[in-house]
Amino acid sequence: MKRKPSFAVIGAGKVGSALGLLLKERGYRPVGVASRSMSSAQKLAEQLETRAFHQPAAAARAAELVFITTTDREIGPTASLIARQGGCYSGQIVVHTSGALASNIMEPVRQQGAWAVSVHPLQSFANVAGARENLPGSCFALEGDEQALPAAQELVKDLQGQYFVIKAEDKPLYHAAAVVASNYLVSLIHLSSSIYQELGLSEKQSLDALFPLIQGTLNNIARVGTTAALTGPVARGDGATLLRHMQALKGMDWRTQQAYSRLGLYTVKVAMENGSITANEGAALSNIFMEVDQIEQKGNHCRLPANETGRTADSHVNRLRLSHGHIGRCFRYRRHPGGGLPR
Ligand SMILES: NC(=O)c1ccc[n+]([C@@H]2O[C@H](COP(=O)([O-])OP(=O)(O)OC[C@H]3O[C@@H](n4cnc5c(N)ncnc54)[C@H](OP(=O)(O)O)[C@@H]3O)[C@@H](O)[C@H]2O)c1
Repeated sequence: MKRKPSFAVIGAGKVGSALGLLLKERGYRPVGVASRSMSSAQKLAEQLETRAFHQPAAAARAAELVFITTTDREIGPTASLIARQGGCYSGQIVVHTSGALASNIMEPVRQQGAWAVSVHPLQSFANVAGARENLPGSCFALEGDEQALPAAQELVKDLQGQYFVIKAEDKPLYHAAAVVASNYLVSLIHLSSSIYQELGLSEKQSLDALFPLIQGTLNNIARVGTTAALTGPVARGDGATLLRHMQALKGMDWRTQQAYSRLGLYTVKVAMENGSITANEGAALSNIFMEVDQIEQKGNHCRLPANETGRTADSHVNRLRLSHGHIGRCFRYRRHPGGGLPR
């Protein structure tokens, strides 16, 4: 078996500890740990059966692979400190695990001859145990010096992960997408659960009720992809139901209402992509989410992108009004007995 490199961890938090422990299990040789507090460094060093150092540079000096797993804002200053204090050498590989930052935040180590690479696990680490459990099978985004990429790829393979390589300038967009998939998913479920809590359910009851639905939806996405997995009133072009939702949500705080309507607008795009509604129907549903009727009562118009109105961008009809001509099946509610819009 090929000899695995020696490594040091600078920043003994969730990611640093999980990576260190997993890599030791895979045959990598720990040679030092440093952290902001000596107690964190010692705790991880004991688990790794290695030494804790006060100075990051002292821990890094003996390592072929150095992991800077501090918080994002400390990566640059830590890399600079290690470089200044002689912790780097030619051919050494220095890794950070931030999704938002590129490897160029570690420029000072490059100036000392080391290779810099960012290896971001596309995974959420709430604690060390969870991280250890979730890391195998996760995907990693690699970015940085070409010379460091083979070692980074080997590392991912040893962690039983998969990887793709991205450019430094793409990291902010890459990270924005990860935030949506992980952090916003948490907020989305919080939003849904808080509506159920308004109806009198406890948080646990609401989560117990929602989880089979969430899991089923995830299974569908895994099986058929996002657009084909879309069901519900937007996919059916059911404007009447959406209006009732918007009406019912009026009793809730503005963020909940905004989140519902903004996500509804995005969902219109998904439904049009999968072809379950036409551009005109999409425009009509979008108007519901933008509460165009209320805006129009104040004498304003609502602008929609031309591709959602089904008309040309320069046309004055791009300023959509709620009119029978536009609405198709979405606006059947106009025929309800009271006349006008249900309020
Ligand atoms: N958590 C996630 O879900 C996740 C996922 C992917 C990537 N990441 C990335 O992984 C990195 C680490 O995140 P984390 O969640 O593991 O953070 P964390 O649990 O807060 O750990 C950060 C550690 O860095 C140490 N530290 C802070 N400033 C330091 C400094 N100047 N010098 C040395 N050590 C310092 C802290 O030490 P003390 O304990 O000694 O105070 C702490 O233990 C970040 O770049 C993050 O963006 C995180």
